[in-house]
Amino acid sequence: MFPITRLRRTRGSESLRRMLSETKLNSEDLIYPLFICPGVGQRRAVASMPGVYQLSVDQLPAEAAELKALGVPAVLLFGLPEHKDERGEVSCDEHGPVQEAVRCLKDSHPDLVVITDVCLCEYTTHGHCGVLLPDGTVENDSTLEILARQAVSHARAGADIVAPSDMMDGRVGCIRQALDENGFTQAVIMSYAAKYASSFYGPFREAAECAPKSGNRRSYQMDAANIREALREVEQDILEGADIVMVKPALAYLDVIAAVKEEFWLPVAAYNVSGEYAMIKAAAEKGWLDETAVMMETLLSMKRAGADLIITYFAKDAAKNLRHIGQA
Ligand code: PBG
Repeated sequence: MFPITRLRRTRGSESLRRMLSETKLNSEDLIYPLFICPGVGQRRAVASMPGVYQLSVDQLPAEAAELKALGVPAVLLFGLPEHKDERGEVSCDEHGPVQEAVRCLKDSHPDLVVITDVCLCEYTTHGHCGVLLPDGTVENDSTLEILARQAVSHARAGADIVAPSDMMDGRVGCIRQALDENGFTQAVIMSYAAKYASSFYGPFREAAECAPKSGNRRSYQMDAANIREALREVEQDILEGADIVMVKPALAYLDVIAAVKEEFWLPVAAYNVSGEYAMIKAAAEKGWLDETAVMMETLLSMKRAGADLIITYFAKDAAKNLRHIGQA
């Protein structure tokens, strides 16, 4: 009988398995998205995302305190404005929900890293991420100027990181230039570099009230079939000045995360998007999946693929679980 190679030897006990695990999830890797709505005392549940709420600014200090206690270092802010307009220019309002939220968070918890989503879709009446021409196409270059003004207004309010998610060409360069010209040379750009036209964004569009009224986002977001093009997008954003690059969604695009990590020497973020969250929540509600176990396995897969940071609606739950199992 030939000697059997004992690969199972190192899996024999929990202590050995832990010691030899190649990848570890850490609460410091997590970024928690927040939806900011107008008003006072607002905490509105999002039906398709159990556990996620639209919050008014006054709710944020308590939220930040909870995140801090859990060791989650950062939030990503989305705004729901009082009124929308044709060109999304309301997004540049110094007193908009995101700008107010940034000031509030920076006042109450200066150490919390505040990231803002820079896009037009939450602010335009038509729900597209850019300025619309009469024929319904999204106009690239006139969108850039509004995005840059929006990013500067976020930086002026005190945002540490701006995260453009619109997928217009040239936006990273345009935003970098505007930030620098306004004295925000230290503001970091986390670019949604490889953002796919995905059906996994459905629940988010309810949370952020930003579904396009007509058409779809396929003329600016990427085709799910392409990975070489994703590397081209990432390369271009790096050339234009991105400091952190993101792949979005995460779960169906782990190969893209791995390729970006392999090819470039920048921090890589993965966005564990709303549909990925909703799928697990729904299956768990039916008793078909163990929510905590599947959540941890999913987040770990993103880390293993190469993500340095994970944006996830599970941030609090995952951090609590890491505490519970003694890993944080
Ligand atoms: C657009 C934006 C979207 C998401 C983040 N920023 C939606 C879209 O592109 O349609 C999706 C996030 C998620 O699904 O969790 N500004």
